[in-house]
Amino acid sequence: MKIIETVDEFRQAYALAKKPLGLAPTMGFLHEGHLSLVKRAREDNATVAVSIFVNPSQFGPNEDYGAYPRDMESDLRKLEEAGVDLVFAPDAAEMYPDGFDTYVDVGSIAERLEGGHRPGHFRGVATVVCKLLTIVRPDRVYFGQKDAQQCLVIKRLSRDLNLGAEVIVCPTVREADGLAMSSRNVNLNAEEREAARVLFKSLQLAEYMFFSGIKDANELRRQMRHTIEEEPLAKIDYVSVADGDTLRELDVAASPALVSVAVNFGKTRLIDNITL
Ligand code: PAJ
Repeated sequence: MKIIETVDEFRQAYALAKKPLGLAPTMGFLHEGHLSLVKRAREDNATVAVSIFVNPSQFGPNEDYGAYPRDMESDLRKLEEAGVDLVFAPDAAEMYPDGFDTYVDVGSIAERLEGGHRPGHFRGVATVVCKLLTIVRPDRVYFGQKDAQQCLVIKRLSRDLNLGAEVIVCPTVREADGLAMSSRNVNLNAEEREAARVLFKSLQLAEYMFFSGIKDANELRRQMRHTIEEEPLAKIDYVSVADGDTLRELDVAASPALVSVAVNFGKTRLIDNITL
């Protein structure tokens, strides 16, 4: 496994790498969710690259960039075990050198849900992913359904700017009690971790109601909110039942709808979703 910190060095490695090449972009502190992308990339490609970069431009000024968990040594061990060929781990100055002044803005799909609550977030995500795709030039790029809106934003980005990578979405990996794996889960204390089970519980409730014949999206959102609000440590950012392609809120839930939630537990903000 080759660890590469600069764009120039990656270009050289690219020239020598067997194709097709698959990339899983990450911000590190890797868990089984990330490793499921790597596993899928390993099955599909001759060369597997993973990027590790905590991207400052996708964090708001009052968000957790400084507190975002990091453990490069452990990440590299996991990637070596998973059979990764190339790790691209640049520092912030390599990705955003002095004078950097070009950003990518994806349109309406990036404005809703996470985009509405985290202004500038998807501008940062789209910019860094655009850079990663032009540096690494993968044939396929792997993302997790856990960040459903991010997947839609990246598909739009890749199509609109002809970035040339096939975007592959992999299922959400969960803990035994249903909590979606996330690097941020380590920031939960014991009580918050217990309370966070309410996320998946609310999604399961929506699924149960939908398949029991309740299609009124307001009713689904109302019951989900009620479930989450029963948990005193949970502070809701949004509860959404939206069209799976446009992310517009629905009046009547119809398959494929994206049911998604964003909830704060203390200082930790968690998101999760299911598709009906
Ligand atoms: P990060 O949060 O590290 O996630 C990297 C990738 O792993 C994303 O595609 C995410 O959806 C996926 N992932 C995270 N948790 C998962 C889970 N429980 N099951 C399945 N997949 C999961 O998302 C980012 O980083 C950044 O925004 C990035 C795309 C790297 C751009 O900076």
